[in-house]
Amino acid sequence: MRDWLSVVGARPQFVKAAAIDRAIQAQGGIRHRLLHTGQHYDEAMSGVFFAELGIPRPQVDLGVGSGPHGSQTARMIAGIEQVLMEQRPELVVAYGDTNSTLAAAIAATKLGVPVAHVEAGLRSFNKGMPEEVNRILCDHCSTWLFCPTPVAVRNLAREGFGTAHVERATAQTPAIHLTGDVMHESSLHFAALAEQRSDVLRRLGLEPERYMLATVHRHFNADDPERLVRILVALHAAAAEHALPMILPIHPRTAAQVAHLEGEGRWTRASDGWLRLIDPVGYLDMIALERNTRLVLTDSGGVQKEAYFFQKPCVVLRPETEWVELVETGQARLVDADPVLLHEAVNDFLRNGAPHRPGLYGDGRAAARIVQALAG
Ligand code: UD1
Ligand code: UDP
Repeated sequence: MRDWLSVVGARPQFVKAAAIDRAIQAQGGIRHRLLHTGQHYDEAMSGVFFAELGIPRPQVDLGVGSGPHGSQTARMIAGIEQVLMEQRPELVVAYGDTNSTLAAAIAATKLGVPVAHVEAGLRSFNKGMPEEVNRILCDHCSTWLFCPTPVAVRNLAREGFGTAHVERATAQTPAIHLTGDVMHESSLHFAALAEQRSDVLRRLGLEPERYMLATVHRHFNADDPERLVRILVALHAAAAEHALPMILPIHPRTAAQVAHLEGEGRWTRASDGWLRLIDPVGYLDMIALERNTRLVLTDSGGVQKEAYFFQKPCVVLRPETEWVELVETGQARLVDADPVLLHEAVNDFLRNGAPHRPGLYGDGRAAARIVQALAG
């Protein structure tokens, strides 16, 4: 029996690992174990995904918790190394661009365990983002680089990767595959389930197409009080102007900062109900909210793509994005934390909608391609 280990730790990685796990089970003959670093640990940030997504419970949870990047990543590396020495899996699958991704790549590569990177080649060209550093380092340790888009393949070529077919992939001669995006099939797969199981619209008293959906968690938005206040004020203003409630399921990092701002009297929640801060929701509820919203406003990578999968215009609360094709095709618009740009983008999208070009992220079979490439 072949033995593969997926390293996960943060919310979006559970979603990506779910798609890979389904493809592994369909392939057969592979034992797939999950290692949870414990980067995310609240029930709403972790447990709910395991309950809803049908992925195996992690065999190991390192429970590293939160902390400064260096020490958090170091604790993960030490824990993953220990597990790898005991289990000696054939390969490690690392997902996306979090500190858990980086720790998996470093621990595995130092032990000579080959790394498969799902969501390789993405670049925002902003090394001020911890995720950009994690992406670059993980890519350069990996044996298999699975790119969701042609742009990602081009980014790797620019960094000196050979993109021609290799007979046997190694860390020296890695294989680059254009596969499409695994979040695409997760969205397709779970949309049907969300339809049956999620009652989030009823719980929140929302009508389809009669609200907007926002998320904010990037450190440069959540941890900068002035930017965060600007964003909250602009979200409230957009909701009130268009009489469409703005639903903001709030990441704990942002919730902590909001509480701080309120405590200091630097931001006051309006009692008119146009901006509604709620706890983070489970994945099925999130999919249901995305499918029925008029518009998405977000600084999340995953939520930008999900907006596209459900054909919703997306206002991106960042100065740049690694998902450049969304901006190039007009489906998403970068507004950073600028209230004027945000106002214009919302007005324009609500009035005119957004163009939708299908197929930007493949055909919904990325995970099967990845598993076939790894199975050899
Ligand atoms: C991390 C990833 C980011 C990803 C995001 C997905 C890195 C560098 N960042 O950001 O790329 O987009 O996950 O959501 O890996 N916290 C809790 N409970 C939890 C988890 C976090 O309260 O279960 C709070 C803690 O105060 C913590 C803060 O959120 O310090 C930030 O958590 P952390 O995992 O460091 O970064 P994220 O912002 O979640
Ligand atoms: N998500 C969720 N509940 C929420 C917010 C997000 O289930 O309250 C899901 C979302 O649908 C997507 C993933 O979490 O699949 C994205 O995670 P996040 O925005 O935290 O991280 P990023 O994609 O930016 O790394």
